[in-house]
Amino acid sequence: MTDININFFKNRRLNLAKDMEDNSVLLLNSSSTILRNNDTTFPFRQDSNFYYLTGFEEPDSIMLLMSSGESILFCREKNPDLEKWDGFMFGLEGAKQEFHFDKTFDIKLADELIPTLIQGLSNLYSLIGKDTLFDNKLISWMSKANSMERHQENINLKDFSNTLGMKRLIKSNEEIELMRKSCEIASNAHINVMKNAKLGMTEFDLESMYLNEFKKGGSRFPSYNPIVAGGKNACVLHYIDNNKTINDGDMVLVDAGCEYGLYASDITRTFPINGKYSSEQREIYNIVLEAHNKACQAIKVGASCLEPQIESETVLSQGLKDIGLLHGSLDEILEKKLFREFYYHKIGHWLGLDVHDDCPYSINGEDIKFQENMVMTIEPGIYINDSADVDERWKGIGIRLENDILATKLGYENLTQTVPSEPDAIEALMKS
Ligand code: GLY
Ligand code: MN
Ligand code: MN
Repeated sequence: MTDININFFKNRRLNLAKDMEDNSVLLLNSSSTILRNNDTTFPFRQDSNFYYLTGFEEPDSIMLLMSSGESILFCREKNPDLEKWDGFMFGLEGAKQEFHFDKTFDIKLADELIPTLIQGLSNLYSLIGKDTLFDNKLISWMSKANSMERHQENINLKDFSNTLGMKRLIKSNEEIELMRKSCEIASNAHINVMKNAKLGMTEFDLESMYLNEFKKGGSRFPSYNPIVAGGKNACVLHYIDNNKTINDGDMVLVDAGCEYGLYASDITRTFPINGKYSSEQREIYNIVLEAHNKACQAIKVGASCLEPQIESETVLSQGLKDIGLLHGSLDEILEKKLFREFYYHKIGHWLGLDVHDDCPYSINGEDIKFQENMVMTIEPGIYINDSADVDERWKGIGIRLENDILATKLGYENLTQTVPSEPDAIEALMKS
């Protein structure tokens, strides 16, 4: 689905070319079709960096962007027989016209033509280390190009990850509209499932309700495998079995977001399956909520993107100390990172075309500073495993609260704020 006007991608390429040194080229490859088992494939999802600069959603494609602004696409030739099986293909002429490339070539000719196209250039940029097969291809095309003319200078291979990542980090208005829609669909899903969740439902029941809500809202795919974790399963950060019963008195942690126009949303709520938090669950919840609120407030234009992390560590440590789960002074807890027993992930991540958006947090030892139109998740959590040396009544509690936060001129906007975050509001929603 391409909701962004194609000129937009062309303009992105032209703008990015200005960030390249003269006489250089950027090469990116598309995703490939991936087998699931035997001859059955996973649904195709275009590589986010490739999509960002092309809008083109076919596999087996390579983009060359010259520092002059010229852009070239290698893609599959139109094949009417294959189209009868796998559906429409743009082909060389279609891709050139519809996606505004200056030239297109058959992907089968890539090994033959790319060395000629890059011969004599000073720099070859790519996203080194993301795809070893493609890295090896780049090196073989470079060696071939270098060997074409004995007296010319060799091409330099340079990583473009930070430059492209910084572009992706600041969302345009068009991207923010897509992200708002993605967040709206996922928020409605959380609201509707919490309203309809009942004691007796399993993790699997809830998962199917979330997936159905995403589709009803207009999103075909979740932006990652949903986590639907009842009781102590919530302490397993990447729990995706989603197939157990949920006991009376247990909470369920649901981390589920969807994709719209390829943009991700990412929301977590932890709610009691019987509609009422116990006093221990509520105490832990309120610490997580305070950490969430303080971390959001740390999102300010000009502040380090690592500030929310520091805020969350301080609030969670103080809260865990106050209820007797951590001991010693706050300074000691923070210095020795004793909170990590109960808070063992980071406060959040950039969000965009990827749920963990492929953008830097620091460059050359300097933290990235918040700018207007960056989007970060804020998702503090406390997880009390059976192995913890604490009173039995705390064990098995796992709570995370996650919202998607847009940095604005004046501070921040919570794009997923329609889903209640406060325990009273969640209980009220479940009763409604
Ligand atoms: N759902 C993945 C994450 O929250 O980072
Ligand atoms: Mn997240
Ligand atoms: Mn999440």
